[in-house]
Amino acid sequence: MRTGVNDRSDLPIALVIGGGGMGMSTARRLGQSHRIILASLTADKNPKREELLREDGIDATVTQCDITDPESVADLGRFVAERGQLRTLAHVAALSPATGDWRTVLTANLIGVTHIERMCLGLATQGTAAIFVSSLAAHRSDPPSDEIISVLDDPLAPDFFERLEALVPEQESVLAYRLSKFSVNRMCRRRASEWGARGARIVSMSPGLIATPMGAREFSGQSGELKRELLRSTPLQREGTMVETADAIEFLASERASFITGTDLLVDGGTLAAVR
Ligand SMILES: NC(=O)c1ccc[n+]([C@@H]2O[C@H](COP(=O)([O-])OP(=O)(O)OC[C@H]3O[C@@H](n4cnc5c(N)ncnc54)[C@H](OP(=O)(O)O)[C@@H]3O)[C@@H](O)[C@H]2O)c1
Repeated sequence: MRTGVNDRSDLPIALVIGGGGMGMSTARRLGQSHRIILASLTADKNPKREELLREDGIDATVTQCDITDPESVADLGRFVAERGQLRTLAHVAALSPATGDWRTVLTANLIGVTHIERMCLGLATQGTAAIFVSSLAAHRSDPPSDEIISVLDDPLAPDFFERLEALVPEQESVLAYRLSKFSVNRMCRRRASEWGARGARIVSMSPGLIATPMGAREFSGQSGELKRELLRSTPLQREGTMVETADAIEFLASERASFITGTDLLVDGGTLAAVR
């Protein structure tokens, strides 16, 4: 018998994608009631992540996955299936506008998200819940035209970028971020019936301004002034914390959210209500 390994094979599996600030806080929280498989891009950082979660007494395995690579996502699906049934998916990974250009942001935040959604649907059974972390940015401006939406609805099409770029002349990372998050929320609405047919749920959770390393980078980047203006308008007059986003994800994953699917939960301290 092995000792010192936090073995909790009695617990259901939660797959958390993305080992950044919010991903780790989500893994810590879901690790109270699940066995954790955390998948993230940068292999070098993963042993430390596993060590930190295990130090908290969590049954955690951290593995490398590039969500933009279909083969890597298929490998992750097999990795999870070998370990048991998927109870919870928390997809947290994304590139911020400051960390990618137009194409790389759309590739990670929309194409990558779609690969994960398709793979996890294949693992979903009665009671599985999938939570996709989106953003207030999904809600901030008017929806794009119907023509653009129909392209965004099919991000795995081989000519996706050519069709999108013919319709969107200003190919900037901030717009890519907004369009990708708009599409994630839409994906959760459009795919609810497929998930429901398996007795499973799919929802998005849109955080507003949250104090994470990504959030801090954005305050000093291109959209810094816009973010400061949003913060000044926020009714609660502060950023949210990763504890508060973990609260929302934990609730959406739980039995208490058993009739919630195909929708979005906005966790923004009232920012959207104040600015729209
Ligand atoms: N912070 C905010 O204020 C805020 C506001 C609204 C929405 N959000 C959303 O909240 C989520 C988490 O934000 P955060 O602040 O925690 O960001 P973060 O610290 O930058 O973490 C993002 C993580 O995504 C992972 N990732 C990026 N590309 C990937 C890929 N191709 N394959 C697998 N993993 C990949 C990175 O992994 P590695 O570290 O392994 O490279 C990174 O750890 C994002 O969806 C973001 O859009 C954040």
